[in-house]
Amino acid sequence: MSRIRFSARSIDNAGTATTACAVLPLHAGAGLSGSARELDEACGGGISDALKLGDFSAKAGESLLLPGGGGARRILLLGCGEADKFDRAAARKLCDKAIQKVRATQAADALVYINQVKLKSQDLPVTLAYLAREFTAASYRYTATVSKPRPAGKLRRVVVAVPGSLPLRLAGRALAQGSAAGHGVNVAKDLANLPGNVCTPNYLAREARKFGRGNDKVSVQVLEEKKMRELGMGSLLSVSAGSREPAKLIVMQYSGGKRGEQPHVLVGKGITFDSGGISLKPGAKMDEMKFDMGGAASVFGALAAAVELKLPINIVGIVAAAENMPSGTATKPGDVVTSMSGKTIEILNTDAEGRLVLCDALTYAARYKPASIIDIATLTGACIVALGSHASGLFANKDELAEQLLAAGEEAHDRAWRLPLWDDYQSSLKSNFADMANIGGPGAGTITAACFLSRFCEDYNWAHLDIAGSAWDGAPKGATGRPVGLLTQYLVDRAGKTL
Ligand code: BES
Ligand code: MN
Ligand code: ZN
Repeated sequence: MSRIRFSARSIDNAGTATTACAVLPLHAGAGLSGSARELDEACGGGISDALKLGDFSAKAGESLLLPGGGGARRILLLGCGEADKFDRAAARKLCDKAIQKVRATQAADALVYINQVKLKSQDLPVTLAYLAREFTAASYRYTATVSKPRPAGKLRRVVVAVPGSLPLRLAGRALAQGSAAGHGVNVAKDLANLPGNVCTPNYLAREARKFGRGNDKVSVQVLEEKKMRELGMGSLLSVSAGSREPAKLIVMQYSGGKRGEQPHVLVGKGITFDSGGISLKPGAKMDEMKFDMGGAASVFGALAAAVELKLPINIVGIVAAAENMPSGTATKPGDVVTSMSGKTIEILNTDAEGRLVLCDALTYAARYKPASIIDIATLTGACIVALGSHASGLFANKDELAEQLLAAGEEAHDRAWRLPLWDDYQSSLKSNFADMANIGGPGAGTITAACFLSRFCEDYNWAHLDIAGSAWDGAPKGATGRPVGLLTQYLVDRAGKTL
């Protein structure tokens, strides 16, 4: 994947600054000043003409591509609406528009005059991080299994003209953070988009080893089924029992912090295909169950971003990888298994397999004495019913951790919404034949799934992100790379590097 390079500059004279595409945001009714006036003069008054003729009125969402002048080959005018209504959300929309319109040109570089917008000073770095992340994520294309992939975009470099009020160092840091997050998003998309016959548990294990080889602060360990059996992971192994693909428990340790400092642990659901097992799913859209390792993909993506940013913290990424298939050796409804924790589970539905692999991975994670542990999983269809695709479902057994994750999601605009983990819901997991059943009643399926997981995390700061609705889009089909944005921001915050 070739990357777009980002940098921040203060531009003395926009008229002479060279670029293939000058991106000029303008507020409605504000006239032309500073860089805008310089560009206008350089292009022979083309901008003021467009305003006078009414071809462009700087309404929010409006855009106009003009021939360039001076050092700029093209000038892209972007409407920002009224200055006093321009907030973070409006700035994000502006970035989205800029990305869409710049990518529609053949420009290999762009110069974005973000210094023209009226934003509160604390919103500017956040906007720069968003711009870099979304530019990077927009450049993603899937190539792995198509013989003639669509051509790569032309854009190689984005320079941002920042106002004097923002130190260049800070602007550069925001761009670097966004770029790393965007790359992480693309890493996650690439893994999640792969078909189930390519991206098997073994494939994920090999990718992890590759990731470890490329980074001296990363060490990787893969636990095979034999080792998992010795550890007593009867729950995880019950999921791979029906498949020819052996399960893998993948551990990626990043040591960016002090030795012995407690790590932040990310645990990803890595079901490389979820047929439902003996509780077979209906046929419609079953292909989308190749995305059932989206949580695992986000662990890879967030780790890639953390490593790139050299975050001074310790992180452990754990991926519980398995394929859920029906066969003569598959687990059956009614089977009882013993998890690594010693708790027994009656498997009433083999399609509720995510929690079965996660509970053993969560028990295993205790050995790292985590400062926090977050699992990420395409866990329940019920989460899509509750929240749709805009928010990931969030559960936590500590309010502080929940608030940190909600804040990270807001900051990165990769949002989550908290749902309750009240005791009242726990009773639906009662079983006559084991310590618990793996499914609850008909209601609140996303909550009862989280309740199941919570029983394996009582001793530490734990949160669970249900990304069933946010991890991929149905039309056009494709992984979104979420919640890598949220996770990266969370890790950046833990490292004390907040923008
Ligand atoms: N991977 C699915 C959840 C899922 C379904 C995510 C559809 C995205 C779209 C999970 O393993 C599953 O099958 N969950 C069941 C649980 C039920 C059997 C209690 C579900 O949601 O139907
Ligand atoms: Mn399932
Ligand atoms: Zn699943």
